[in-house]
Amino acid sequence: MAAAATAGAGAAAAQPPRQYKLAPQSELRVEVLPDAPLRVRLVTGTAEIFGTELPPEGWVPIPPRSKISIFTWHGATVELDGVSESEYTSDETPMVIYVNTHAILDARRARARAAAAQGADLEASQGPRVIVVGPTDSGKSTLCKMLLSWAAKLGWKPTYVDLDIGQGSITIPGCISATPIEKPIDIVDGIPLEMPLVYFYGHPNPSINPDVYKVLMKELDKTLEKQFSGNAESRAAGMVINTMGWVEGLGYEEKLWKMLKDAVQSKPNIDVVKLHKSEGVVLRNSKYRQKTRSFRIKEYFYGIANDLAPHSNIVNFSDVFGLQNRWVVIKLPVQPCLSVQSPWQIPPGLSLLTSARIWFIRNVAGFIHVTDVDIQRKKLTYIAPCPGDLPSRLLIASSLTWYEA
Ligand SMILES: Nc1ncnc2c1ncn2[C@@H]1O[C@H](COP(=O)(O)OP(=O)(O)OP(=O)(O)O)[C@@H](O)[C@H]1O
Ligand SMILES: [Mg+2]
Repeated sequence: MAAAATAGAGAAAAQPPRQYKLAPQSELRVEVLPDAPLRVRLVTGTAEIFGTELPPEGWVPIPPRSKISIFTWHGATVELDGVSESEYTSDETPMVIYVNTHAILDARRARARAAAAQGADLEASQGPRVIVVGPTDSGKSTLCKMLLSWAAKLGWKPTYVDLDIGQGSITIPGCISATPIEKPIDIVDGIPLEMPLVYFYGHPNPSINPDVYKVLMKELDKTLEKQFSGNAESRAAGMVINTMGWVEGLGYEEKLWKMLKDAVQSKPNIDVVKLHKSEGVVLRNSKYRQKTRSFRIKEYFYGIANDLAPHSNIVNFSDVFGLQNRWVVIKLPVQPCLSVQSPWQIPPGLSLLTSARIWFIRNVAGFIHVTDVDIQRKKLTYIAPCPGDLPSRLLIASSLTWYEA
């Protein structure tokens, strides 16, 4: 049952600070406006945002455009300060099912750790590898966050693998990436970025070039496998893998469920578990997704709180190599074909690598945004998150576009 809806779409009128008394196992769902600050404070009890507990004292700023749920297991009073787009409470949540799933994973991690201590083989000492699949806007990324944060709270260091190139919760869209989660995911800063493994695919949709998407996934898998073989703790903690929702529409869940069941029938060590979607998950249309992609890129250069400044720089064409049309490179490794349309054309005069296959399957060093191309003077102007020379001479072009607003 839902109650206490306030404000309204686009309402930006001042709202006084207000308190919500939440019954055990209920949640307050809040949508934050793009440009009106909102903060939350725990007054009594305990509560968490997607698996990360609210601190007992002090205000926590909620990032703009977030759609969050403040959930309590045992009851809590929370206070909101600032204008929101909408806020309401609900006691209908699938959180018990989610936390039970976490408990099963936790037991499997403990079993893997015990097996490793007794010198068991790699298979027995492997912790759970969870892949979260489902239609668009079913709460996949949110469930991943919860499973990771709950595991980290118990001292595990699971690896988060994000295969969703459309949204990208680790870094900018267009990438597949992985990173260890050593503590519950920060409510403000999100996924930690100290040690990410990032492969740049360069497009928001795998169907643009499924071959490259698959090659990058295989490479990520190979690298993670290598890391796990030398690290029993992260091996036991396992992985939580996020995917993108490929299909929308009715009936898809059932079809997917059946497909997965059939696919793993002969594999005794794989379980397919069907979980309910939370009614709180907010639907986002393609325009909203496009905007979110833009904001993710802006955040990379300007910081989540818009408190960073990127550095503008100029580089000569002769100092860098361009790499474009990778799907052609992969099929014809010797001779990249320039006739294939690319939304981001590498300017004439900039050298192209010819045998580039080995390069694009490397972990990327970072991203730059090309703001100007001077064909006459053969120079590129770009912004980068840090000053100084580029860490590598190889630039990979992408079809992602971003206009600084
Ligand atoms: N219980 C909840 N209350 C309020 N908002 C929620 C809740 N659960 C999820 N959301 C929000 O709903 C939105 C969609 O959820 P999420 O990103 O997890 O879906 P998804 O299945 O990963 O979507 P996609 O298919 O785009 O990857 C997110 O902004 C998320 O923060
Ligand atoms: Mg998602």
